[in-house]
Amino acid sequence: MENKKRMVSGITATGTITLGNYIGAIKNFVELQDKFEMYIFVANLHAITSPIDKLKLKNNIKSMVALYFACGLDPKKVKIFIQSEVLEHTQLGWILTCNSTLGELNRMTQFKDKSTKVKSSNGTEFIPTGLLTYPLLMAADILLYDPDFVPVGKDQKQHIELTRNIAERMNSKYGEMFKIPGDYIAKIGSKIMDLQDPTKKMSKSSDNPKSYISLLDDLKEVEKKIKSAVTDSENIVKYDPEKKPGVSNLITIYSSIKNQTIEETESYFKDKDYGQFKNEVTKCVCDLISSIQENYNKLYDSKEVEQWLEEGANSARFIANKKLNKVMNLIGLNYKRK
Ligand code: TYM
Repeated sequence: MENKKRMVSGITATGTITLGNYIGAIKNFVELQDKFEMYIFVANLHAITSPIDKLKLKNNIKSMVALYFACGLDPKKVKIFIQSEVLEHTQLGWILTCNSTLGELNRMTQFKDKSTKVKSSNGTEFIPTGLLTYPLLMAADILLYDPDFVPVGKDQKQHIELTRNIAERMNSKYGEMFKIPGDYIAKIGSKIMDLQDPTKKMSKSSDNPKSYISLLDDLKEVEKKIKSAVTDSENIVKYDPEKKPGVSNLITIYSSIKNQTIEETESYFKDKDYGQFKNEVTKCVCDLISSIQENYNKLYDSKEVEQWLEEGANSARFIANKKLNKVMNLIGLNYKRK
């Protein structure tokens, strides 16, 4: 255990987990759990950056926890916990807020995208502050654990770069306090696209449910969504994200789930038309989802899950608390300690 490299990551509890989250993040967590010491959490504090109904939030958290285990994360190997149960995250978040600049945060593309949506309907004054500052909480989530790598999808790369910049700056200002984390981004599936507009990322906060697949969708719905996914009129199953974004997205989904290369998928579908292609993509996604849902139904109300979460939070707290103390000492916040 001691010699293993460490990873930390989380998923925001704003909705149910999408196929994009699964392929871009969870699938990698599951594959890496034997090789790395892992800390995986439900980012519930990140879920309140925009207004969210209380009951919905509670349900999301409970459902997300059960899904983590249902997807194959093994509580004997991975420490799973709820972010807000380790108070050190918010405390370090504040310290990092005081060591960052408005310029850095304004440059974050996720902030630009999300704030533009609010701006266009309500005006700048109504952009929630949390949308701007949440990358700092994310940086705290990471830096508390001294991870070697952070497994994420492509859209989070910029936030990890910001985390590294802040860590480097603070190390040189106050003395060595943080390990500089790398990102771990899978070769296939790091950006699964929207099924209705394949030039956009698949997102759980989309207004159109046809544009994403949730791991808890009814299988009939999944079939409809894949069958109505936007493709093109060529009827040739070929990977070309520029010219054929819809087909390329389905190829990526299929390749990732089947654990094969893009070339292998292309050659398998060489003589098949879009009808056959979509049928097989549907089958492979439905097989995956139905086995996850079977596990999910067993785990949803299980007492064992609560036990695992408690153990996960205790392990996380132990590490996070030591790190926070070190940071506080180096900054001068613990006045009695030298
Ligand atoms: P979130 O909740 O938006 O996404 C969770 C993870 O899923 C990946 N992802 C995708 N991958 C491929 N295709 C997609 N369409 C897709 N959509 C999402 C994301 O890249 C991410 O890895 N702020 C983070 C959560 C977070 C976090 C952290 C992550 C909070 N603290 C610390 C890592 C470390 C977020 O909103 O991710």
